[in-house]
Amino acid sequence: MFIPMLTQGHRSYITTPIYYVNAHPHLGHSYTTILADVVKRHRSQRGEKVTFLTGTDEHGEKIQQMAKAQGKEPQTFVNEISHKFRSTWEKMGISFDIFYRTTSPDHTGAVQFALQKLKDRGEIVFREYEGKYCVGCEQFLNDSELNERGLCPDHLKAPEARKEANYFFLMSRYQGALIEHMEKNPKCIRPEHYRQEMLSFLRQPLTDLCISRPKERLTWGIELPFDSRFVTYVWFDALLNYLVATGWPGEGWDQKLWETVHHLIAKDILKAHAIYWSTILLALGVQLPSELHVSGYWLVEGTKMSKSLGNAIQPMELEAQYGKDTLRFYLLREMSYGLDSTFTLEGYIHCLNAYLANGIGNFVSRVYTIAKKNLGTVSLSESELTETDRKLLLLRVKTREAWDLGFAELKYQNAIKAWCELVTSCDLYVNEMKPWALAKDPSQIQRLHVVMGVCLRMIEALGILIAPVLPTAAREIARALNLGEHALESMGTHFEDRMRFVLTEDTPKLFPRAQMPLKENHS
Ligand code: MSP
Repeated sequence: MFIPMLTQGHRSYITTPIYYVNAHPHLGHSYTTILADVVKRHRSQRGEKVTFLTGTDEHGEKIQQMAKAQGKEPQTFVNEISHKFRSTWEKMGISFDIFYRTTSPDHTGAVQFALQKLKDRGEIVFREYEGKYCVGCEQFLNDSELNERGLCPDHLKAPEARKEANYFFLMSRYQGALIEHMEKNPKCIRPEHYRQEMLSFLRQPLTDLCISRPKERLTWGIELPFDSRFVTYVWFDALLNYLVATGWPGEGWDQKLWETVHHLIAKDILKAHAIYWSTILLALGVQLPSELHVSGYWLVEGTKMSKSLGNAIQPMELEAQYGKDTLRFYLLREMSYGLDSTFTLEGYIHCLNAYLANGIGNFVSRVYTIAKKNLGTVSLSESELTETDRKLLLLRVKTREAWDLGFAELKYQNAIKAWCELVTSCDLYVNEMKPWALAKDPSQIQRLHVVMGVCLRMIEALGILIAPVLPTAAREIARALNLGEHALESMGTHFEDRMRFVLTEDTPKLFPRAQMPLKENHS
């Protein structure tokens, strides 16, 4: 089985979208942010140096409108919500390195530099334009992009007819170069069907991109350096965040970091990234991002979860009620990456009970209780292992291969499923070895040491593997088994075969079972 090895010391840059501050963070935003966090932790364990960016996108018409509706100055309004995003991610233990804000002074200067550079190179022109504009998307939509009722399919609102003179970025010039790039780099958009979707979109002539908004309509944006009557289009401003955060265009630009860029997004903003962002970079003469990872949507009762549709699930409420790591596990286990998934509370509680409380939680607690009560310190040696013991221990390697392959292929579900199967194999082993019976027979004490030692080695491996997804539970396992401070941080080429485990006094506390909510009776 081929598993691409991550190179020790290799640097990479992963980003989430920078979120609009017109909504509070909900489960949809949490998915991409949690996934980026899991990927960072997974790669860091394997020696990669990962820089992780998230942040907030703070300009544009919808934000101006919301601030006005609340009677607040736009800057006061965006400060509040940006803080809300940052503190939510901090409370959720998200390990971001950069929290980017598009209202920072450095950002304004860099965006104006990019605009001026493109204008000087003849990449930006002034033209009259008429079209249908969706304020929710902050973009003009073609008829083919509207649903059968003529509404924006994401916001379920009719776009407004707008006619105005604006500046245009001559994106169409780059159509050929972009097609060539997408054809030559099969990993540039993943999963594959999104690359095909963009290539098929590029079979139609590409129109130019309107990159300005007149100040009569929008003041809350970055002023064009060559025409003070206009501010720049929010997408032009926002996309540059990824690059500016690495120090571009200054002397200190960390160009090495820009060599491996993985942007994590959902399909709503695929075109903005695959087409707008790529052509902007081509025009600026900057290397294109290595990979775009595109997820589907989290749906609630068949519709995309979003603030504007009023069906958003609050991640912090779930965490407060059902514990810290469960949300991370549920989101990764339930979504087949690239496709849509439906969130249900029943599914969430089932996942918690079946895989976390009854799965790993029960296994760890069973083993810990028997070993602590009867042995305290567990010792074993290789020569004492039976064929069955060895078979189980070998499964650690197979699971790690499946786990790494799942991450490499963006099939996170497969990784989690392989891990859950390993927990099941451990349970079956305990059922077969009956350590509770061995404990009652003084002549079997040495065999009890071996069986418990095998189980503890399995728990150590399960904890290390799952640490990026369940960091709190993994820390608890490492503490109870006295594995040492750095046990979860790095992952060598094989699992350590410990000869001795000294168990701590406190029983590990993992996942309490949860009650299914009572169904409402509508009759
Ligand atoms: N501000 C822009 C992005 C600019 S990036 C240069 C934006 N912001 S957003 O707040 O609307 O966030 C969109 C992103 O949030 C999606 O691409 C996805 O990562 C995440 N999600 C928001 N709702 C989601 C779902 N219901 N399901 C899955 N992800 C979702 O667009």
